[in-house]
Amino acid sequence: MEAASQGLEFCLAEEAHFEQVMSISGDVYGGIDYMPVRYRGWIREPDRRVVLAKKEGRVIALVSVNVVDDGHTAVVEGLRVAPAERGKGVAGLIQRHCLELTKAQFPELELRRCTRSRPLGPEVFVKFQLVCKQEILALCFEAAEILPKLEAAVEQMKASGAGWEEPVVLGADDVRRVFLSPGVVRDVLPGETIVQDWAPYKASRSNLETLLKRDLVWMADSKDEPSVLSLCQAPYSIPMGAGWQRLNIDIFGKQLPGARSQFLAQLRGAIGTLPGPVYCLLYMEPSLWQQMHSFCQRALGLSNDRDFGGQYVLETGI
Ligand SMILES: CC(C)(COP(=O)(O)OP(=O)(O)OC[C@H]1O[C@@H](n2cnc3c(N)ncnc32)[C@H](O)[C@@H]1OP(=O)(O)O)[C@@H](O)C(=O)NCCC(=O)NCCS
Repeated sequence: MEAASQGLEFCLAEEAHFEQVMSISGDVYGGIDYMPVRYRGWIREPDRRVVLAKKEGRVIALVSVNVVDDGHTAVVEGLRVAPAERGKGVAGLIQRHCLELTKAQFPELELRRCTRSRPLGPEVFVKFQLVCKQEILALCFEAAEILPKLEAAVEQMKASGAGWEEPVVLGADDVRRVFLSPGVVRDVLPGETIVQDWAPYKASRSNLETLLKRDLVWMADSKDEPSVLSLCQAPYSIPMGAGWQRLNIDIFGKQLPGARSQFLAQLRGAIGTLPGPVYCLLYMEPSLWQQMHSFCQRALGLSNDRDFGGQYVLETGI
């Protein structure tokens, strides 16, 4: 299908399009969309192209391509089509346009990656290879109410002498050393990939420098021989309602005690100063999900808020 036959025109996103982009994003991700806080930063990033599709002068779709992995990988993010325009192939057309435009400006691009959730039909796996999969626990709470339960859970784990593995916070030099260590890349990172929120990065020096500029807290169970690592992003406002903040905690590694301890430590650090309601997304190795969920129910009184259908990092050639 051709863009022209659908009456579509493409342009680069600008500040002035913000309201129109918000107007097509109302139902995206059920109230936890990051676009309202990311849009203005994204359109200024030198290694990112944000493209809009317009019909009769109105914005009807957006997609962005971020160039990572030293210019070799195009990460597709932020895709959305206005509800009334869905089911007509617009998502395919805008992605093709944005990828062609980006490829013309970054000729070394050879891979395209995206992160999606279930359901994923068989056609997806014809087009893409699976790089890795994480599961998601969605926890909804008032920060002030959860903090005492969290402290009690940590004390109880410490007192029982089992289950608590004191997390260490990693400084920038620790991060470079730990995340570039071949053993960690092979054995701890899913698919040798750092998935920060929904964005996949290969463990390379340039990607780490990009990530180190973000407001992230990096933790490990050990600086020397880590088996569990985690990243927590500073909370940000979401459209869910007044005062709602989204918190993303990515955990890598298969050991439950380390993963649970870092989850609690990251949560404690992040929500200690937060006033209101929090939507926390905890991403982890799938085999940990059931036990982590039981722990959250038992110790914090929190159950999974919704089934996101997992987090699948997919890859194909360009
Ligand atoms: C998912 C969404 C973007 C699909 O848009 P759409 O225009 O209705 O999709 P269509 O089924 O008409 O288009 C089919 C094309 O889009 C692609 N596509 C559909 N859903 C996709 C998705 N979630 N991610 C990437 N590509 C997708 C298909 O691969 C197909 O591409 P092709 O033409 O190259 O074969 C749209 O439903 C939407 O905006 N949903 C809310 C936001 C959202 O969930 N975004 C997805 C983030 S991964």
